[in-house]
Amino acid sequence: MCPRTRAGGAPNPNLPLVELRLTDFQTMFPPELLGRLKQFLFCGNYGDALTARDTLAICEYLRAHNPKLKIKLVTNGSGRDAAFWSQLAKVVTTVTFAIDGLGETNQIYRRRTSWKRVMESVRAYLAAGGRAEWDFLVFRHNQHQVAEAEALAQELGFAKFNVKRSQRFLVEGQPAERFPVLRAQGGIEYYLEQPTLPDYQNSGFVKLSSLHKRGQSYSDYLSSTRISCKAVRDEQIYVSATGHVFPCCWLGQIYDSWPSPMAQEIRARIAELADGLDALDLRRHRLSDIIDGPFFQELVVRGWNPDAPQGRLSACGRMCGEIDTHSRQWEAGSV
Ligand SMILES: C[S@@+](CC[C@H](N)C(=O)[O-])C[C@H]1O[C@@H](n2cnc3c(N)ncnc32)[C@H](O)[C@@H]1O
Ligand code: SF4
Repeated sequence: MCPRTRAGGAPNPNLPLVELRLTDFQTMFPPELLGRLKQFLFCGNYGDALTARDTLAICEYLRAHNPKLKIKLVTNGSGRDAAFWSQLAKVVTTVTFAIDGLGETNQIYRRRTSWKRVMESVRAYLAAGGRAEWDFLVFRHNQHQVAEAEALAQELGFAKFNVKRSQRFLVEGQPAERFPVLRAQGGIEYYLEQPTLPDYQNSGFVKLSSLHKRGQSYSDYLSSTRISCKAVRDEQIYVSATGHVFPCCWLGQIYDSWPSPMAQEIRARIAELADGLDALDLRRHRLSDIIDGPFFQELVVRGWNPDAPQGRLSACGRMCGEIDTHSRQWEAGSV
């Protein structure tokens, strides 16, 4: 379900192997700009901040130039040594560890992670005084461990335990019961299945199913639903690992693992810019110039117009339309 690979199998053929270095951050976020920001969230679209060489140095740079900045990181936690985690605890506000099961179970979704290393990271980070949250994505294979994981979170000293009801079981607007996990060389290795307990299912799915009862298809819905832009609401932007600026991580999903109309629509908008993707490069342009430029001000906003369905951005309908399966991931209850 992560676009880094094709459903867990072969690597995403379109994904550039890149990372941002400290020098990139110094160019992209000069101290004067940093002083005006409220929060930095390191949450990979296609990766994990753990794997970038300069993550710690970058966090220290941000902290040094804005002592009030909230710095948050979301990670699978399976990597780096205790020294890294203790240092990180001194500079960041919160680390959210995404741990989807106890022991071996975690690896069913978090493939090739090590439970031992995740626990070492958690312990080192908490022992150094860091604030941590635990995000637990519920599947059929781990739903029986939720209560035990919550108890462990409390015992270890996590500040919060969040049950998360994935919206990624949606295939063309229809909740799929199961999702194949592929082998790199082809063929299905096993399936990820939705939890059977209603409390752990995404309540937005019920709403989407009711579209059909009203005679509306998912694509009708995407082209007509009222958009309430979360990037505008939260005053946020997204910077990709390639250094490009987008309103949000969803519009930053331009490197599709399988051919996807959503990514295609966004790339077509970028192609309308005289300099293409370069126009969004924060190493070459100031943030304010990118935001005041045609991508943010015209091309994305055009994608919300209900009177021109051809120009709509389906990613916006999907993420910020009236049926909000994204926000419902953290909400209990099946209706
Ligand atoms: C793409 S991940 C990157 C962060 C980090 N590498 C990780 O794996 O948690 C960004 C967010 O998506 C979440 N996520 C990953 N798989 C998901 C799924 N199947 N459904 C819902 N959220 C998911 C992660 O837990 C994280 O909060
Ligand atoms: S998906 Fe579209 S509407 Fe939603 S936050 Fe991103 S730009 Fe805004």
